[in-house]
Amino acid sequence: MSLPIFHSTIDGFGRTVDYLRISVTDRCNERCLYCMPEGYKGWAQREDHLTANEIVRSVEAATRLGFRKFRVTGGEPLIRDDIIEILERIWKLPGTQTLGLSTNATLLSTLAPAIKQAGVRSLNVSLDALDPGLYHRITGGRLSNVLDGLCAAEAQDFEMIKLNCVLLRGLNESEFLPLIEFAATRRMPLRFIELMPLSKPDILSDPNFLAVEELLRRLDAEGSLTACDDFRPGNGPARYYEFHSPRLVLPAKLGFIGALTNRHFCEGCNKLRLTADGKLRPCLGRHGEIDLRLPLRSGGDVLSGFREAIANKPESHEFLETYEPGRPMTAIGG
Ligand code: 5AD
Ligand code: SF4
Repeated sequence: MSLPIFHSTIDGFGRTVDYLRISVTDRCNERCLYCMPEGYKGWAQREDHLTANEIVRSVEAATRLGFRKFRVTGGEPLIRDDIIEILERIWKLPGTQTLGLSTNATLLSTLAPAIKQAGVRSLNVSLDALDPGLYHRITGGRLSNVLDGLCAAEAQDFEMIKLNCVLLRGLNESEFLPLIEFAATRRMPLRFIELMPLSKPDILSDPNFLAVEELLRRLDAEGSLTACDDFRPGNGPARYYEFHSPRLVLPAKLGFIGALTNRHFCEGCNKLRLTADGKLRPCLGRHGEIDLRLPLRSGGDVLSGFREAIANKPESHEFLETYEPGRPMTAIGG
C-alpha cells in the first residue's frame, strides 16, 4: 500500500524528523547508575502506561505524518508481557521502514527468536563492563544473563547488533579495551556515550565525566583510528572510526557519542520520543512534553500532537546550561 506523502516532518531548523523512539515502560529489571537515581520513586501508575493499542495508534499517526523509523525502548522493553505483539504490530504498519529495539539483553536468551520473527532488524544492547563484579556495580544485574542474551541474538542473524557503553571515569575505564576486543571479535559496532545528566545534575563537574575526545586520544596511543564518515547505522548521532591494534585479530568499529562536548551534536537530530505514559518529548535534554494520552483516550486529534512536537523541537539540548534532571532516563526512554 502506498502512503500519501506529507512534508510536515521538517522542523523549524530544517531537520527532517522521521524517527520515533517509543518507550513501552518506565520499569526495568536493572538499576543502572546513570539512568535511575538511587531510591527512585517516580514510576508512572500502571493505568497511565499506554496500552498496546494506544502505542500502535500513536505510531500509525506518526507514519501518516511521514515518520518511517522506529525504535522501541524502555526502561527495559522486554519486561512488558505484550512486547512481541507491540513489535509485530508496529512492523506491520505500512509506513514502517525500520524497526529497532534497545535492550539490556538480560531477557534476550528466551525472546530473541520471537523478536526477530516480529520484524525487528536491529538491536542496541547496553554493555558497560565485562567484569561481572563491575557490571553488577554499575547495573545491579548479572553479566551472564547479558552474555547469554547476546549469544541468542547472534544466532538470529539480526542485520545489526550495536553495543552501548556509557563512559564513566573511575568506574569502567579498565573495561574499554576488553569491550573493544569483545565487540571486534563479534563484528558488533561499539558506541561510547558521554554521560548525560539524566539521573543527577552537574555531570560536567562530576569526577565521573569522561569526554569522548579523551578516549580518542587514549586509543590513538594504543592503535590506529580511521574515520568512517559514511558509516551511519540507524542515522544515529555517533561518529564512527575503525580501530586497528596489535591486540585485535579483527578491526573494531567504534562509535563516539559526544552528547555534551560536541557542539554540533544536535544538528542532525531526527527524532521525537514517546514516553511510556504517553507524552511526546521533542528533546531528551529539555523538559517540554506534549500529551498524547488525553487525545488517545478521548478520541481527540493525535496527529496534531505530533505536529506540535515537531514545531516545538528546540535547536539543541540544554544539558550544558540550566538543565536539571526532572524525569530520569528510565522514564523518558533511551
Ligand atoms: N548518559 C548517557 N547514556 C545513557 N544511557 C542511559 N542513560 C544514560 C545517561 N545518563 C544510554 C545507555 C543505554 C541507552 C539506551 O542509553 O547506554 O544503552
Ligand atoms: Fe534499565 Fe537500560 Fe536504564 Fe540500565 S540504562 S536501568 S538497563 S533502562
